[in-house]
Amino acid sequence: MKTIKDIDLSGKRVFFRVDFNVPLDEHQNITDDSRIRAVLPTLEYALDHNSKLIIASHLGRPKGTPVPEFSLSPVAKRLGRFLGKEVIMAKDCIGSEIKALVNQMKIGDVVLLENLRFHSGEQKNDDIFAQALAELCDVYINDAFAVSHRVNASVVAITKFAPVSGAGFLLQKELNYFKKAMADPQRPVVAVVGGAKVSSKIGALENMLHHVDKIIIGGAMANTFLKTFGYDLGKSTIENDLVETAESILRKAAETGIKFYLPVDAVVASHFDARAEIKIVPIQEIPGEWMVMDIGPATSRLYAEVLYDAKTIVWNGPMGVFEMDAFSRGTFAMANSVADSYALSIVGGGDTDVAIHKSGETDRITYISTGGGAFLALLEGRTLPAVAALTK
Ligand code: 3PG
Repeated sequence: MKTIKDIDLSGKRVFFRVDFNVPLDEHQNITDDSRIRAVLPTLEYALDHNSKLIIASHLGRPKGTPVPEFSLSPVAKRLGRFLGKEVIMAKDCIGSEIKALVNQMKIGDVVLLENLRFHSGEQKNDDIFAQALAELCDVYINDAFAVSHRVNASVVAITKFAPVSGAGFLLQKELNYFKKAMADPQRPVVAVVGGAKVSSKIGALENMLHHVDKIIIGGAMANTFLKTFGYDLGKSTIENDLVETAESILRKAAETGIKFYLPVDAVVASHFDARAEIKIVPIQEIPGEWMVMDIGPATSRLYAEVLYDAKTIVWNGPMGVFEMDAFSRGTFAMANSVADSYALSIVGGGDTDVAIHKSGETDRITYISTGGGAFLALLEGRTLPAVAALTK
């Protein structure tokens, strides 16, 4: 795979596909700008190498038509502040007006194209749309790890039409950290897997059985595993159709000598509400009408001990409903334990990064991935289509 460092950028129109799919509140304020900060090294490098920067991203899921709430304008302002220069917000991402705008650019100019997903061709991986994007540039750089699991025109088809293509620093960093954790790790390797559903993690769990030494389970998905032992879990969320799958994963782990850890106690609530009555109970004593909302304190202590001798930790998915304060302790305790360990720790996927930011442990984790679905795709052992396209 060519990287940005292998390509002459001087005087060139360089198209950067980044992932600026950032969360916005109801006033269009950016609530987390990590994805913008994560690509600054790549953009600064390009500025230092005298290029013209054309930046493209998607935001949200506008389904092929312009939707004002999904405009990238707020991102242009934030990016301008970070780069210390004007970022020109384009009205669209293709078309004659955009071509004219790009043709007038001088070295050091920065243009942010409007949301790629305002055109249906983006998510259809359409050649004509990809070609229209490629016509804007001399060099194409993919630094959009978080969308590299999608077969979209701006990350896959565009590589057929751009004169030269390469990977930016963020994409390389994400792939390298992942390789360190899964392909050639220091052992023992501990995987911490949480979140609501076993169904969304089956692929990752099956693949991790080939790579890790211990697996820790948290979140509502633990209920489905606990069900295999016949526990009464009250009104907790359980994927009954996956109890057999959970059983088979437990069996495979036992056969291969992988230690598998499940919660021993839980924070339970009378109903799914932040102000519900709560209790801490052993897993064997969940009241019939109650539901599991978080791992309990004994589980947190057990998991801390499991992590104690880890040399590599990969964490995906929260331990409970951490969005509600009463049920956030298990996830924050996990963040503290991962941060306290001497292991190489990599966190990514779903809400895990949000949980880490909230816990205040950001600086004590080795690497927090910018990817949600893309990180999970790597955990599943899949090759990312956008990376494959760059490698061709
Ligand atoms: C993400 O936030 O995971 C990426 O930006 C991909 O977004 P998508 O799930 O809408 O394709």
